[in-house]
Amino acid sequence: MNKDLITMDDLTNEEILSLLDDADRLLPVAHGEEYLPLLQGKLLANMFFEPSTRTRMSFETAMKRLGGDVVNLGDVKASSAVKGETLYDTMRMVDGYCDIAALRHPRQGAAQYAGDACSISIMNGGDGAGHHPTQTLLDLFTIRQAFGRLDGLKVAMVGDLRYGRTVHSLSHALARFGCELTFISPSQLSMPEEIFENLTCDGEEIEITVTEDLLGAIPEADVIYMTRIQKERFPDEDEYTKVAGIYKLSADDLVGAKGEMIILHPLPRVDEIHPDVDATRHARYFEQAFNGVVARMALMCRLLGVAIPRGD
Ligand code: CP
Repeated sequence: MNKDLITMDDLTNEEILSLLDDADRLLPVAHGEEYLPLLQGKLLANMFFEPSTRTRMSFETAMKRLGGDVVNLGDVKASSAVKGETLYDTMRMVDGYCDIAALRHPRQGAAQYAGDACSISIMNGGDGAGHHPTQTLLDLFTIRQAFGRLDGLKVAMVGDLRYGRTVHSLSHALARFGCELTFISPSQLSMPEEIFENLTCDGEEIEITVTEDLLGAIPEADVIYMTRIQKERFPDEDEYTKVAGIYKLSADDLVGAKGEMIILHPLPRVDEIHPDVDATRHARYFEQAFNGVVARMALMCRLLGVAIPRGD
């Protein structure tokens, strides 16, 4: 496996499936039912230059459940970044302090930059409107948990496909497993061309539908992946206002859905999924967030060269 996880290009399909198998084995550890100190003595640097709840906390939970420890950058405003320290200098220092690092940064490409600067493994926890591959691992884990497979599913991605880094990474991975993708967004938030161009399976084009119609896509979908409109990435607040609240999924909208259809969301949500969806059989976003712990446990073990014992 590559030293770093910057985009899903860093993983082969076989490596993805093997990581998901490892994650599955780690479920009792993530639930606190089993103690397995595989990463005892290892130190994770949580370098979050942008807000995060799930990614930061699930990395920390994963490391601690496996017996390791964590140092956090903490509030960026209380770090030497405000004195003008460069990302390069900060990461070179972390390279000496810790064994592995998770990085979230507002600048697209920052994770690759940090990976090139460091000898330790860098895990991209989101770089601007670029990629979020560790989120994709937990998304894939959740989808496989529900369907027992990844290939051939019909997945609809909804909302901010332009700035939403989760869908950039996820669409790439799902294409490689031969999924059929539907992109649902207003035209100004459509999937970037450079992501679109990469959506192939074994070099062959996959089936992709582009539409603005969420309700029309519900009956066919196996997975509906909702996303938040990324207010913080809009250069102009008026442009955000034009699309804010454009998609709002409620329980009534799901009447024609397949029984086994699941709704995912990387979270946080704003208003794109009504709370009345939470009680439906389709809602899986909180389980999805939990799965971030096992997915990141499996990833850190792999990058640190620690094998996960197989059951009897
Ligand atoms: N899904 C996700 O990246 O959530 P956070 O921004 O809370 O980390």
